[in-house]
Amino acid sequence: KKKVQITALAGDYIGPEIMAAGLKVLEVVGENGRFDYELHEVPFGGAAIDQTGEPLPQETLSACQQSDAVLLAAIGGPKWDHAVKRPEAGLLEIRKKLNLFANIRPTVIEEAMQQYSPLKNGKPVNFVIVRELTSGIYFGTPRQLDENYALDTMRYTKEEVQRITRSAFELARKRKKHVTLVDKANVLATSKFWRRIVAEIALTYPDVAYDACYVDAASMKIISAPQQFDVILTENLFGDILSDEAAEITGSLGTIPSMSLGSSGPALYEPIHGSAPDIAGKGIADPISMIRSVAMMLANSFDRADLVAQITTAINAVISKQIVTPDLGGNASTTEVTDAIITTIKESRNSK
Ligand code: NAD
Ligand code: IPM
Ligand code: MN
Repeated sequence: KKKVQITALAGDYIGPEIMAAGLKVLEVVGENGRFDYELHEVPFGGAAIDQTGEPLPQETLSACQQSDAVLLAAIGGPKWDHAVKRPEAGLLEIRKKLNLFANIRPTVIEEAMQQYSPLKNGKPVNFVIVRELTSGIYFGTPRQLDENYALDTMRYTKEEVQRITRSAFELARKRKKHVTLVDKANVLATSKFWRRIVAEIALTYPDVAYDACYVDAASMKIISAPQQFDVILTENLFGDILSDEAAEITGSLGTIPSMSLGSSGPALYEPIHGSAPDIAGKGIADPISMIRSVAMMLANSFDRADLVAQITTAINAVISKQIVTPDLGGNASTTEVTDAIITTIKESRNSK
């Protein structure tokens, strides 16, 4: 049987620190033939600029295209902020080249995490942001930056809106059957366009409740009434902003994974946060976002709910014991959290 192929892109600043943690957990859950895979670690982002001059070298793209799944930690940082082609451009390019139009960013406040949430009412929160990832203002042309004038273009085609909308409704069917479109349809033409198309598709999902909400009000409700949401469907930039806000109500941005999907080909799994240059090199980055990204990969690309359960149970046990990094108010290191998770996985296996 051919081994599954996984490409790992560690990237920059805390990227390599948390990637090491994620790969260690993957190795442990996979050991003794439980999950056989071949790993390809290739340069991406600033690290690739330093080696080759390009944030997404051809060999890196090929490795990703030939893989069954891609793991990415984080890229970017002050070292390359003035590069001709920045690490961030490589990130947009890989999303586009792999056609990863649907970015799924979960917000779940697990029982074990309640104590870290800044929200006071303690009610369970479980929603997911479905962010359009390969179009909108991130990619629209014309784009111009002059001394006295600058221009960005937000543009969407009908097909782009239709495919991400279907992803959101299909996902809602497996959840609480409720989709909320978040937009700025009181002002923007692109948002009016989304509303028209999404309302049309909603009619073909009579079993799924559908409503819409302006983005300013949505940002307030994510804090005041997050229980109202199940699936938030939104365009690229709004999804970027709202997902960092949503992450923070769980206690820390450093714990949230994501997956990016196309209609075929490998999916990409990555934390939603960046390379955290402010804490890089100190050994205190929260590894949970990356470890959960590994779990998401095992669930979605490889159908290994058994291994996912081991990882999730171990993460919650370690969080409950307050073995956490400073972003969650603790004083454990990246390695201590990772090793505690690994020890818990091994113990639970031995007790079976
Ligand atoms: P950031 O997400 O890197 O950091 C924001 C804050 O959250 C910082 O205080 C950081 O210390 C903290 N944080 C993030 N992840 C953490 C973790 N795992 N553990 C503990 N604390 C964590 O955002 P930024 O500082 O605005 O961006 C830094 C660089 O990352 C920029 O170059 C940006 O473009 C890039 N970026 C990359 C990605 C990606 O690779 N997907 C995503 C977002 C930002
Ligand atoms: C993210 C990041 C990226 C984005 C940046 C680094 C281009 O913030 O993945 O959320 O805006 O999509
Ligand atoms: Mn972001």
